[in-house]
Amino acid sequence: MKTCITRCVCFRQPFDRLKAIAKAQGIQTVEVLQEVVLFGENCGLCKPYVAQMLRTGQTVFTELLTDNTSEQA
Ligand code: FES
Repeated sequence: MKTCITRCVCFRQPFDRLKAIAKAQGIQTVEVLQEVVLFGENCGLCKPYVAQMLRTGQTVFTELLTDNTSEQA
């Protein structure tokens, strides 16, 4: 069974919720989104996923993303 990554685990913030907030407020960067929602400030592992979500709209991930892979995407 594949594991899906669908949220900031540390702060229990589903990516689809973060996406809805970003869309409603016209937010396009992880940093600005973090100013309105608490996520990504513990381990930070969710941030590359949120960055990709903001670019592509994707909210369910099955591949491992790191800061490096998110920069290249
Ligand atoms: S998963 Fe988002 S800060 Fe740890």
